[in-house]
Amino acid sequence: MKRLAASGCAFAICLAFGASAWAADVANGKFIFEKTCANCHSIDAGVNKVGPTLFDVVDRPIASIHDYDYSRKMRAVSKQWKVWDEKNLNTYLTNPRQVLHGVKMFFAVPDAKDRADVIAYLTSIK
Ligand code: HEC
Repeated sequence: MKRLAASGCAFAICLAFGASAWAADVANGKFIFEKTCANCHSIDAGVNKVGPTLFDVVDRPIASIHDYDYSRKMRAVSKQWKVWDEKNLNTYLTNPRQVLHGVKMFFAVPDAKDRADVIAYLTSIK
């Protein structure tokens, strides 16, 4: 309810909009990204930090930034999963090191709504 209240959405209106009231919230995704992911990732093309740039990452081939030193595990995953589509991002971000033993990134987004919001935000970075 807190998020609904914050978006200035009256209860009756939210009910009327139903599912759309819960559609991915890009602003929340940006907020989460800037608070967390941005410590290790840039959204600028060609800028790698602790992690590789996430510019245009949605539908980008996995481990494809040539001047970034990926772990062996991430390179191996790229042969199975191929690209960072929404499904793979969602699985990965749930718990990177549990889903993919051996990757360097340990930061997780356990909440499904927050993950959807972060992915929606990443989709907007092109
Ligand atoms: C503490 C640092 C850190 C944080 C915080 C972090 N990451 Fe990462 N991330 C990494 C590292 C390091 C890698 C490279 C992993 C490897 O090679 O095993 C990576 C890899 C990735 C990749 C794969 C990119 C590619 O080119 O294949 C994605 C996607 C990603 N991170 C998304 C995120 C998102 C979204 C967040 C925030 C919710 C986040 N990361 C938070 C360090 C971090």
